Amino acid sequence: MKQIYYPEPFRIKSVEPLKILSRKEREEKIAAANYNVFSLAARDVYIDLLTDSGTGAMSSDQWAGVMVGDESYAGAESYYALQKSAQDIFSLPYIQLVHQGRAAEKVLLPILLEGKKYAIANMHFDTTRAHVELAGARAIDCVVKEALDTASYCDFKGNMDCERLESLIKELGAENVGVVIMTITNNSAGGQPVSVENIRQTRDIAHKHGIKFMIDAARCAENAYFIKQREESYKNSSIKEILHACFEGVDCFTMSAKKDAIVNMGGLIGCRDKALFEAVKQRTISFEGFVTYGGMSGRDIEALARGLQEGIDENYLRYRIGQMEYLAARLDEAEIPYQRPVGGHAVFVDAKKLLPHIPYYRFPAQALAIELYLEAGIRACDIGSFLLGNDPDTGKQLESDFEFTRLAIPRRVYTQSHLDVIADALINIKERAGAIKGYEIVEEPPILRHFTAKLRPVE
Ligand code: F0G
Repeated sequence: MKQIYYPEPFRIKSVEPLKILSRKEREEKIAAANYNVFSLAARDVYIDLLTDSGTGAMSSDQWAGVMVGDESYAGAESYYALQKSAQDIFSLPYIQLVHQGRAAEKVLLPILLEGKKYAIANMHFDTTRAHVELAGARAIDCVVKEALDTASYCDFKGNMDCERLESLIKELGAENVGVVIMTITNNSAGGQPVSVENIRQTRDIAHKHGIKFMIDAARCAENAYFIKQREESYKNSSIKEILHACFEGVDCFTMSAKKDAIVNMGGLIGCRDKALFEAVKQRTISFEGFVTYGGMSGRDIEALARGLQEGIDENYLRYRIGQMEYLAARLDEAEIPYQRPVGGHAVFVDAKKLLPHIPYYRFPAQALAIELYLEAGIRACDIGSFLLGNDPDTGKQLESDFEFTRLAIPRRVYTQSHLDVIADALINIKERAGAIKGYEIVEEPPILRHFTAKLRPVE
């Protein structure tokens, strides 16, 4: 008897047509985009894996919420619905709405870093790092060393290296560290999960030294699903119970709701302490708008309140992580290297290993992203030396620890057949890998260059 496996826990009610260009047309489009995928028009892309952020498909219930969204300036019904939904999941008493993750960082981080010199995280996402630096502090990453070896298996490759954290705090002086941050899942390390045990150990170290402990909760539901699969003591817990365990005793969190809350725009800040919340509210009013709408329209708040709950549904999460596992299994069969085990929102293909003849300063992960577009109209992006950029002092190209081509999978958008196209394209590329050329930059802005730099293939 065949075991029935349930992949998509939904059926499709509304579809968005996609255009498929010919190989010749794609060659012209990518050359016109100066070999930068950010300069492609989305209409010229068949499968868009640039990000899983704000690109998910809302449910019929969320769309129904859009129709009943309350647009009152203050005290709207949607605001109360959101408070109820978020408090239920995070178990923190004070929740502030903002319009996206970096807005939460902009509001919260300067409060935590006032008069401080450092923030330490398992890994800072780019915008988190930017807001630490804008607040006049330095961002230090302290991930476990297993994260650096893409071939090794480790249940919780996103974890904080707690021993190193202790010695870093001593070295830098606890009074100089404004916040310890845990990013769950750890996006920059490949969407890798963090265990409850590690979250609690990190929290206790921070608190022992009188330092605030914050969670970057962008993908906390996916993280909770991994905990259920891999951390023995939580195998019988619900996703919500696991989230409560993760957030126990944390001082505050930020969340880009564009990921696990399956909305196209939105963000949250959570606080345990009233004084911190008061400071957050004041800054929200100046940057985002009055506290009960925080830069969002009522209809979007309503969709967010509902999306938060859909994002912790276990059947949905099984399908969601199942998509990554399916794609990863196809890459395993073809011996295509990626950050193992596969993470929660993306497959991070190891371009350094797939294209070993292309040195870091010729951007192997960018070269692979271009090939994916040429091969099948797939848009992925470089998380490697091209993204990292130049040393601000010497102007020389920096060498990244990783050369990843990230295939970020939007939530509830692509089917298993799309995943097969991605795997087949990578298999074809692997067969002709030796002939793939690197790239050089012909024009670049001084910061965040990967969005707008112009490149050309190197002979
Ligand atoms: N924190 C993490 C871990 C993120 O991955 C992101 C965004 C943010 C914060 C910022 O949130 O975009 O709503 O302002 N990550 C997206 C990505 C952009 O493609 O990984 P935002």
